[in-house]
Amino acid sequence: MSNKLTIDWDNFLKNYWQKKPVILRNAFKHFIDPITPDELAGLAMEEEIESRIVTNKNGKWDAKFGPFTDFSRLGEDHWSLLVQAVDHWHEQAATLLEPFKCIPQWQFEDLMVSYATKGAGVGPHIDNYDVFIIQGKGCRRWQVGDRNPNYKQFNAHKALLHVEKYHSIIDEEIVAGDILYIPIGYPHNGISIGESLSYSVGFRTQTSQELLSGFADYIIDNLPNGIFYQDPDLKLPKDPYQIQPYELAKLQDQIIDLVKTPNLFNDWFGKHITLPMHELNIVSVEPPYEYDEFQSMLQTGAKLCRVPSIRMFKIGESGYIHGEKINLPKPMIDILCETEILSYEQLQDKNVLNTMLKLVNKGYWYFID
Ligand code: SIN
Ligand code: CO
Repeated sequence: MSNKLTIDWDNFLKNYWQKKPVILRNAFKHFIDPITPDELAGLAMEEEIESRIVTNKNGKWDAKFGPFTDFSRLGEDHWSLLVQAVDHWHEQAATLLEPFKCIPQWQFEDLMVSYATKGAGVGPHIDNYDVFIIQGKGCRRWQVGDRNPNYKQFNAHKALLHVEKYHSIIDEEIVAGDILYIPIGYPHNGISIGESLSYSVGFRTQTSQELLSGFADYIIDNLPNGIFYQDPDLKLPKDPYQIQPYELAKLQDQIIDLVKTPNLFNDWFGKHITLPMHELNIVSVEPPYEYDEFQSMLQTGAKLCRVPSIRMFKIGESGYIHGEKINLPKPMIDILCETEILSYEQLQDKNVLNTMLKLVNKGYWYFID
């Protein structure tokens, strides 16, 4: 079972991506839900999986965070269950991401699945990410407003940041197989008409603040010796208490020079962007495999499967996974990125096997028969 997405990506990128919201009607023809509400509830019972239940009974908003043990007291309507990073834990649900893998994957965050009863929703709000909301079973009414930095936001509940009333530029119901795309910053509100399931494919970019502070931490750890401001061409200024524009420009360049050093910036970004955004199904091997044991398992036909949705990207000739650099040549990095299931034929070289042994012992790949 797999759903096929029909979308004209060139047209979509030109007209909508990070520009304006749009409903893509019937983008998945004959959409089949890849997960059931019961399976979703099962995931919400797990400690390591982020989930929440939002209720809006009689106009009163409430939010509770999982893990949950009991869903029996929630009643018939006005509540929804939202589970984050379902792609990390449910193989069939993760297949929904396949058609979105043409978009730069370093910007992908997760697949959030929500089950909603009649009248349920999380209320009018603004997200910090771009999202494709795929409608599964049932139907939802979506009201999307225009972008406006002046909207007032307030806490309808301590865990629910809502936005004040806005004028809708989209006010429509969507049904199974339709997609609502909402760029960052557009207020929106989805209200379930009856029972429904929706799948949010989220893309999150980095803020300048995150970039600067993350890079600064890397510099502190990797360049312990101070690089001092120098001005060997100094001429005596009229006012030694006035910091000159050229001095400020030199100070800015001092920072920019570091940012523009590829060895530093690229290595930092590769490590930073492969850090997990949500818990992964990683289990380190205890006791760790020894080299001979590892090699003979592969030789006798066992295969290695990469942990679902572990972040792995390439920068130049280098590969990064889960916050660390992979010390292997580029052709091997390409194979590791392209192939989710590896066999001995692809790994025979001793250096490759040694590196893979370390990564397997950390739990980034695991054996399947
Ligand atoms: C939901 O799926 O219930 C909420 C999605 C959203 O508005 O971001
Ligand atoms: Co939202």
